[in-house]
Amino acid sequence: MSNIQEVIKNKKTNLNPIWIMRQAGRYLPEFREIRKKNTDFIKLCLNSSLSAEITLQPLKRFDLDAAIIFSDILILPYGFKQKIEFKKNVGPILDDLNFDQASKITEEDFIDRVNPVYKAINLVKNNTLTKNKSTIGFVGAPWTLLVYVLNKQSPKVKLKENFFKDHSSIKQTLNIIEKFLKIHIKNQINNGAEVIQIFDSWAGLLEDKDFDFFIYNPTCSLVEFTKSLNVPVICFPKGIKNYKKYCEIVKPDAICIDYEVDPIKIEKEINIPVQGGMDPKILLTDKDNLKKEAIKYLDIFKDHPYIFNLGHGVLPETDPNMMDYLVKIVKDY
Ligand code: CP3
Repeated sequence: MSNIQEVIKNKKTNLNPIWIMRQAGRYLPEFREIRKKNTDFIKLCLNSSLSAEITLQPLKRFDLDAAIIFSDILILPYGFKQKIEFKKNVGPILDDLNFDQASKITEEDFIDRVNPVYKAINLVKNNTLTKNKSTIGFVGAPWTLLVYVLNKQSPKVKLKENFFKDHSSIKQTLNIIEKFLKIHIKNQINNGAEVIQIFDSWAGLLEDKDFDFFIYNPTCSLVEFTKSLNVPVICFPKGIKNYKKYCEIVKPDAICIDYEVDPIKIEKEINIPVQGGMDPKILLTDKDNLKKEAIKYLDIFKDHPYIFNLGHGVLPETDPNMMDYLVKIVKDY
């Protein structure tokens, strides 16, 4: 069993495994080299051999405990034929979703479109670099995907004023998203994903009264589905206030925390395995500070099943030497 599985399944506290969200990405010069020649981001995600190569890049440099497959949460809308493009310095831009078209797409059609992702997982899983490590598959949470599908761009740029008004398209869209999320999770698992992480990057946008409908109900359904396939599931509801309540309702196998919550409070309140927390900006400071902050998290979770990670993705401006140092601190602890 890999260290990450030992922590999640057997609640081991002495292993301190580490992987990093966005560990395969722009802070690595070898990624930027490939990216320069592949200007269409979705096409790059759908190139199985390049996707596998990018996934393995951080494992060649650092002693990480997991490979997270190089793909994107927006491969899902691509799979149900919503047009999508990644604009430089803007982020993803989507076309209107065509409901009639999307509701006619079959499981086979969807799998045909995103099959290269599954092939990439297979390549990664069978590579010697992932021996004794975990291959992590992922999806966006229903709420975060709903935001992109209906808002058609990052809510960081702008959230439509009438976003919550159109109940019928919200309901229809959520149904489509939930259907294909299950298909996507199942196929990642069938092709070698041993852990699934659900990214709810925009959970922090919602008020308490909307949590049942947009977060708890649809996420519970996905968590139950993933557990029924005997694969552990980690949830990352970034920016929420009440992680304890979230864990009690959603019941993930492990919870990934963001950098705004107090890790001491989390350690006291939450009794499932915890992942992450440290602010990615710490990697932009200096080695002494990085060591101090990393040790802080390791000390707090010393007697708690804990997977080291950041409180959000590694920033593109991060120096790979700082990442190297971080991995060594965690391994030497
Ligand atoms: O973690 C990994 O190493 C695996 C790869 C991965 C990517 N995206 C690759 C990527 C993962 C797990 C994601 C998840 C993802 N994608 C999320 C959830 C996590 C989070 O960051 O909150 C979200 C919201 C997206 C959607 C998305 N993809 C946005 C908003 C953007 C543009 C903003 C940005 O960070 O550039 C992307 C692009 C993207 N996804 C890149 C990478 C490496 C950068 C693409 C580039 O090279 O230009």
